Amino acid sequence: MCVNIMQNLGAANHFSHSTKVSFVLLFILTVAGIQAQTVVPAWYNQVHEVEIDKLLDKMTLEEKVGQMTLFTSDWDVTGPTIRKGYEADIKSGRLGAIFNAHTADYNRRLQKIAVEETRLGIPLLFGYDVIHGYRTIFPIPLAEAGSFNPAAAEESARIAARESAAAGLHWTFAPMVDIARDPRWGRVMEGAGEDVYLGNVMGAARVRGFQGDDLADPFTLLACAKHFAAYGAAQAGRDYHTVDISERVLHDIYLPPFKAVLDAGAATFMTSFNELDGVPATANEHLLTEILREDWGFMGFVVTDYTSINEMIPHGIAKDEAEAGLLAVNAGVDMDMQGAVFYNNLRKQVENGEVAMKMIDDAVRRVLRMKFALGLFDDPYRYSDSEREKANILTPAHREAARRIARESMILLKNDNETLPLSKNLKRIAVIGSLADSGADMIGAWHADGRAEDVVTLLTGLKEALGSAVKVDFVDVDAIKGTDRKGFDEALKAARSADAVILALGETWEMSGEAASRADIGLPGVQDQLVEELSQTGKPFVAVLFNGRPLAIPELDKKAAAILEAWFPGTEAGHAIADLLFGDDAPSAKVPLTFPRSVGQVPVFYAAKNTGRPRNPNEKYTSKYLDEENSPLYPFGYGLTYTTFSYGDPVADKTEMNRNGKVKILTTVTNTGKRTGTEVVQLYVRDLAGSVTRPLRELKAFQRVELSAGESKTVSFELTAEDLSFYRRDMTFGPEAGEYQVFVGGDSRAEKSVTITFK
Ligand code: NOJ
Repeated sequence: MCVNIMQNLGAANHFSHSTKVSFVLLFILTVAGIQAQTVVPAWYNQVHEVEIDKLLDKMTLEEKVGQMTLFTSDWDVTGPTIRKGYEADIKSGRLGAIFNAHTADYNRRLQKIAVEETRLGIPLLFGYDVIHGYRTIFPIPLAEAGSFNPAAAEESARIAARESAAAGLHWTFAPMVDIARDPRWGRVMEGAGEDVYLGNVMGAARVRGFQGDDLADPFTLLACAKHFAAYGAAQAGRDYHTVDISERVLHDIYLPPFKAVLDAGAATFMTSFNELDGVPATANEHLLTEILREDWGFMGFVVTDYTSINEMIPHGIAKDEAEAGLLAVNAGVDMDMQGAVFYNNLRKQVENGEVAMKMIDDAVRRVLRMKFALGLFDDPYRYSDSEREKANILTPAHREAARRIARESMILLKNDNETLPLSKNLKRIAVIGSLADSGADMIGAWHADGRAEDVVTLLTGLKEALGSAVKVDFVDVDAIKGTDRKGFDEALKAARSADAVILALGETWEMSGEAASRADIGLPGVQDQLVEELSQTGKPFVAVLFNGRPLAIPELDKKAAAILEAWFPGTEAGHAIADLLFGDDAPSAKVPLTFPRSVGQVPVFYAAKNTGRPRNPNEKYTSKYLDEENSPLYPFGYGLTYTTFSYGDPVADKTEMNRNGKVKILTTVTNTGKRTGTEVVQLYVRDLAGSVTRPLRELKAFQRVELSAGESKTVSFELTAEDLSFYRRDMTFGPEAGEYQVFVGGDSRAEKSVTITFK
């Protein structure tokens, strides 16, 4: 058993590519004084490996290449459509996996072809982008990250898995764990935002949610960590654009969430579209083999992103598809998504000796490993039961969870004079803006089988909360697209005669997600004009924002009395917003991705470096703009609620730490307002002088704490040497001797700190 595992695993040492470590089921290594552990994933099963050996012996080369091939069905379109006829490919045994096909009946029909009409009857694997829910749609992942509640992310992923695994699916293309610091990039909505630690924690939670404890449980899905790697660093925030970052930044910022989800058991990885240091990720042996397999010991399979092998030709690294395929397979790709490059070329390339048969067998083994782990060889139809589908989709319990998690994901950005919560004893309320009654926009991009007609819109949610005694004047102004001012006059009139004004603003759902970069991240269309004219009426108004990225909204910040960032909140949008607006619950989320004042500040993120000339307003030759602040509009970690909190000075139980030691940091947090509230207490670290420069601060821990009015609690965090570690000058990972400043507070500007020394 040990021998076989070692054949399929590289070493787990992510500090040196050449080191191989021997182990049995658990291997522990000590590098630079830190112990790292890599556990053989729960889905690895030696009995399956023996079955796979037998199967490999029976398979033709063509059938093997089939297991390395993934085609889309024509059910949903998530990329360029380049081929038809996938049913014939299933029949010929040349297709092992399908994506964008769902529902129990449809997938059962396709599965039947694979199982009953092919020579070996190897079941198909069905994948889909189940990103934030399947039919019951949860807030977009960026919003969920703002909850700083990994249990919520785990729960929504668990429910998404429950619904989609009942609808014929085995595999989700999630979580996206790309760190993203440029809000122009439309895909910031799919990840956990700018921070490495938050990204690690949220990514791992989502993997646990999708995969559960046992992949053979038919209510679970294979997770897919994507996009490996550094896709979020696209130049100028333009999707698919070049990535050029240092090896240090790659290791410090972009890789850790991938390692965290691997440690949580992620079964598959997806390559990214971008190049990295001149080599597209899909052809990048350094990423796919050296780091992922040799250093981290990944035992699952690697799928490309959509036609990304073919795209090596326009990238300018391969003259034709055959060459592109060679680069991909030799770099470590196991499955070609939609490109048909392996399908068209790989067999010939093995036959003429360009690709070693061993490469093919290893790739097929990894794919089959997952089909065995899912239990598909025991019962290929276990995920395709239409009765189970009916019983598990859009249930009241799922909707209730979606409502609760949506509430936890909305950020109160501004609340002058306690404008919120609103009283329910109003006579008349004006609701302005098309987003207030648009189901389609509430579910955002990547909404899988989510449907507009299932959604509780803001308008419906408000009406339900207020009952018939309150008159609701809804003015459906569409100010988002184009320059039409239709409805402005009616909106202003409604506002003037209302006791409360709610203005729904933001983006439509297609304005974020894949291929949805924006150069101007202000409010699109003529929404700024609407805000301006409304503010001139003198009526205070509450803005509710729907969007997939932080927007640059300095004018709205000046003019609105209150701003609630609702993101794209999902199926239960209107209920969740009403719960918060009327104070049945209070906002508790925090900013997961910095809101700039203007697009010219981008990228602006809290974990920046100090520079040799930090900003000094009185000194010309320092790092700043002539025409803009350095500070953002809303910093990372920021968010208000209906009460206020104060922090005591943090105290450390020891002032010194060594390699195996721990330091406890304690802080007292007090609710200084009149209502119960939840605060996300955050701990940041700064290394004052390192062998390389370090960020001004980095999040290392957080806790959600509920406090009743006047209540104080002592919050305790434990710091280890790992928390002080980074890639040092020589690219080894570990802490360095010297002082570290530890800040605790309610956002990334926290001022109270204590200093500890690492010896
Ligand atoms: C392309 C996207 O980049 C990826 O995230 C997605 O999973 C695939 N298309 C499949 O839809």
